[in-house]
Amino acid sequence: MNLEGQVVLITGASRGIGEACAHAFARRGARLILTSRNATNAERVCRAVAPAPAVALGADLSRPGQAAGLAGRALACYGGVDVLVNNAGVGLYLPCWEAESALIREMVEVNFFAPLELIRNLVPHMQRNGSGVIVNVSSVAGKVALPWLTIYSATKAALNFLSDGLRMELQGTGVRVVTVCPGYVSTGFPQHILGGRIPYAVAARQRFTITAERCANAVVEGVRKGKRTVVTPPSAWLFVAAARLLPGPVHAIMARMRAADAH
Ligand SMILES: NC(=O)c1ccc[n+]([C@@H]2O[C@H](COP(=O)([O-])OP(=O)(O)OC[C@H]3O[C@@H](n4cnc5c(N)ncnc54)[C@H](OP(=O)(O)O)[C@@H]3O)[C@@H](O)[C@H]2O)c1
Repeated sequence: MNLEGQVVLITGASRGIGEACAHAFARRGARLILTSRNATNAERVCRAVAPAPAVALGADLSRPGQAAGLAGRALACYGGVDVLVNNAGVGLYLPCWEAESALIREMVEVNFFAPLELIRNLVPHMQRNGSGVIVNVSSVAGKVALPWLTIYSATKAALNFLSDGLRMELQGTGVRVVTVCPGYVSTGFPQHILGGRIPYAVAARQRFTITAERCANAVVEGVRKGKRTVVTPPSAWLFVAAARLLPGPVHAIMARMRAADAH
């Protein structure tokens, strides 16, 4: 796909992977719609990608109804959206029984319901055009449940299934779906979690961390080349394969890493 002139809507574009995606799509000649809770944060990134055309929109995606409203406002910016990058996301490093249900619901809204609502509101327009790309930024945690991020993993696994089913639903329509599963990416994500903290044993092992720029380049290449799934870094496939082939030992190791910190 040639991205020159394409309209790309990126949620969570005020920092981290979303901000890096804004720069990466801008370099390919795309026109951008960048969102964050507060439009002022996205406006900073709009200025940074200049002279690429970019519009900032604010929407708190933890609030039901905001995603549908955002889709309407985004369609009005340039008359359509060619690429939707569902990137906004939050984490929660608390065991299921300790996390308050309000926080769990907030995370599920941002990580699952908001992407679904944006898809529900934008896919009909893409179908009518006979083209479009939905990018769902999931996580390796959506392929392998991480016990220090159990509920987060569940939201990302749900997003992965949504992507797979949607891709099949859209077969032959010209609308594609790309699932992006990053491993650890160096962003402010751990500082913006809704609760809990990253276990020491996990933080100490993050030697395969990649930059947000590398992750964003993988996203753009995935869109350009029509990939189904982008796992970045590709070496994270080894972890996914190990957990599928040997779930007992791999789960036991991860449970020990979590427990070491819990005592
Ligand atoms: N970093 C990693 O290691 C990693 C690994 C795998 C997957 N991911 C996924 O990658 C995506 C981006 O993460 P990141 O690392 O770039 O995190 P980040 O630096 O914390 O950025 C998160 C973005 O989401 C936006 N956001 C948060 N809550 C929101 C809400 N309620 N409504 C609207 N926007 C909201 C933030 O904007 P404002 O705060 O300005 O509103 C910000 O732009 C997430 O889906 C995450 O799950 C990250």
